[in-house]
Amino acid sequence: MYYIIDSANTDEIRRCAEFYPLDGVTTNPTIISREHNGDFVTLIKTIREIIGPDRMFHIQTTASTAEGIVKEAHALREVVGGDFYIKIPVSPEGLKATMRLKKEGIKVTVTAIFTQQQALIAACAGADFVAPYVNRLDNIVSDGVLVVSEIVELFKKHNINSKVLAASFKSVEQVHKTVMSGAQAITLAPKLFENLIYHPLTLNAISDFNRDWESVYGDRDILGLINGEQ
Ligand code: G3P
Repeated sequence: MYYIIDSANTDEIRRCAEFYPLDGVTTNPTIISREHNGDFVTLIKTIREIIGPDRMFHIQTTASTAEGIVKEAHALREVVGGDFYIKIPVSPEGLKATMRLKKEGIKVTVTAIFTQQQALIAACAGADFVAPYVNRLDNIVSDGVLVVSEIVELFKKHNINSKVLAASFKSVEQVHKTVMSGAQAITLAPKLFENLIYHPLTLNAISDFNRDWESVYGDRDILGLINGEQ
């Protein structure tokens, strides 16, 4: 199971990398455009510095031809290094680029997937990950989780090694059902990522533990007691 955050906000990335089991970062042009300073190269270098070389960094191409996508993949890999994936929206030019890049050993995530057949063909072109958009499917009264679960099933049936990196979530319920369906990776906005561990009863339980401890030991903690504090 891989947890990835879908953000280019350096504060959010830093926080998630410090407090959570974070496997990587995904971005797309929309996410990048939300970081207003406009210095794309500095931004992606900073993100790489924060997450280190071993976490995945998926950066989306803005080119629309196979030639352009391949060139961008080379240049981006050079700039960010480490565990790099070029994200390519599914299209004929995107699939052509995927096949070329895989021959060169560059890792590819094929994104903006809305159907099982898009995912299958992307996988056959060599995608390491395919990224179906769960919430955007739910928004058009389709069934995002069903699409993901059928992609997972298709990959199993056909012995395909590509993994499913499910994206576009708005609720913990969508996340839960998606991972139950067998998706190997999810990418989430940082706020939703943090919500995965939120429960009011947990907060109550922690507050009760603190109150009961203080009723006997006041403000002394375990270390203080072990070190002989009275
Ligand atoms: O990674 C894809 C994702 O950014 C799309 O999410 O929330 O814009 O539907 P959303």
